[in-house]
Amino acid sequence: MISPGTMLGILSGLLVVIADPPTADHGFTVVDASATRASDPPTWNGEVADIIERRCVTCHASGGVGPFELVDAAGVRNRGRFLLEVIDGGRMPPWLPAGSAWMDHRTVTPVERAKLAAWLEGGGPVGDGPPRTLVPPGPPSFRSDVVLDMPDAYVIPEESDPAWHAGEIDVHGVTFSLGNATPLRVRAIRHRPASPQAMRVAAFAFDDTGAGRYLDERDSRVGFLMGGDPGIKPMGADGVILAGSGDFRLPPGFHVPVPVESDLVTQFQYRPTGMPERLQERIEMELVPAAEASRPIRWLPLAVGRIDLAAGATQRVSSDPIELEHPLELLGISPRAIELCRSLRVVVEFPDGRFRTLVDIPDWDHHQRETMRFRDPVVLPAGSRLQATFELDNTPENPRNPDDPPRRVNRGRRTGLLSATLHVAARSVEGDRYLRAVGPASIRDLRRGEQRRRLGPGVPIP
Ligand code: HEC
Repeated sequence: MISPGTMLGILSGLLVVIADPPTADHGFTVVDASATRASDPPTWNGEVADIIERRCVTCHASGGVGPFELVDAAGVRNRGRFLLEVIDGGRMPPWLPAGSAWMDHRTVTPVERAKLAAWLEGGGPVGDGPPRTLVPPGPPSFRSDVVLDMPDAYVIPEESDPAWHAGEIDVHGVTFSLGNATPLRVRAIRHRPASPQAMRVAAFAFDDTGAGRYLDERDSRVGFLMGGDPGIKPMGADGVILAGSGDFRLPPGFHVPVPVESDLVTQFQYRPTGMPERLQERIEMELVPAAEASRPIRWLPLAVGRIDLAAGATQRVSSDPIELEHPLELLGISPRAIELCRSLRVVVEFPDGRFRTLVDIPDWDHHQRETMRFRDPVVLPAGSRLQATFELDNTPENPRNPDDPPRRVNRGRRTGLLSATLHVAARSVEGDRYLRAVGPASIRDLRRGEQRRRLGPGVPIP
């Protein structure tokens, strides 16, 4: 465990905003600056450098998480066809959900894609003047009120652990002791990886039960193997950051509440690079200033506890629905699913019988998970019913199936093997009391397998 040295941008306004239906080009309404400055044919200095700067260079530059640099005309030109392929395949920039209701939606617009293609087609001309070399933008402003450093490194192995189905999937846990004498109101978290190219995801859960400490102390290594959940709190309940994507920042007026004497339990998901790499991370936190009013964010799990999937089988599984007793505002969603999951959706049924898809991830990749924040909070009235549905695929046709030939997968996790954690805020004191109780209660029910009984017959949401 680690002692101290010294979370998700979200929303304002109260509209019901929902993800658009999925489209082949993963639909967006991003302002396209390059559309207004046409030159024919496009040049690197004229337009293409701007596109790469806007969409790629934060990760694909020296010290970034990307496996190579995309900072000059030659580097981009030489990889040309490959870049178009990964853009067309929806693999880059990394962004999982369909629709455009999101903050920090990463995408390449069709106009930008066409410019890049035309430039490559035209031989990749530089244009007027000396060729531009791109530098990644500096990090956005952040006040580091709390800084947590791992004093020692854990060594990320060269290769993935073969015991994948036992749950040991390129994941390492670390417990940082905050030792805070007063409650904290955290409004942003920053993750600084020691080996950016090996780091993929950091998931956070504040813990005042000692459960995270226990996980760390029973393992003699730095940190602990596997990303166990601290007690009944799902890992990621207080935010998930995809490496290279920036900070986890709540919208003004909201905070993650941290009780006194808490630990920050963190799960780092890495990607072996073929060489041993150092995992020695720094976590920084920005707090809400004492004089500022702010509302706490709570977590609500839509989870499936156990799966049993025969070799070669596909299966659709859904969480039990949760029916809200108080209205809430939904600020963001953190999905978690194993590699055999092909796609997932979160759906709400409003009290008037309307349905809305809140999240639609058509091509799940567990190496790219993160907290997705709505541009505007989604207001869910009392009586709304929420459910998450996961499509599992244990056939050899699933390119992410770790076993070839496939093997039966029978696994459980007491806090949810497949889950979508909802980041929610109440609109009243009673509502907040309700939310504090209902998240943990849902996990306890999951462990007892009693959720369906408690909620009654629970007609599944289609
Ligand atoms: C948020 C960070 C991020 C952004 C933004 C980003 N990339 Fe990447 N990119 C990565 C990471 C991480 C990998 C390595 C993925 C892996 O190993 O699975 C990668 C890998 C790639 C690859 C190799 C894919 C492969 O299958 O080997 C290409 C090509 C690529 N990126 C192109 C781009 C282009 C073009 C853009 C901009 C349009 C872009 N990336 C934006 C993080 C990013």
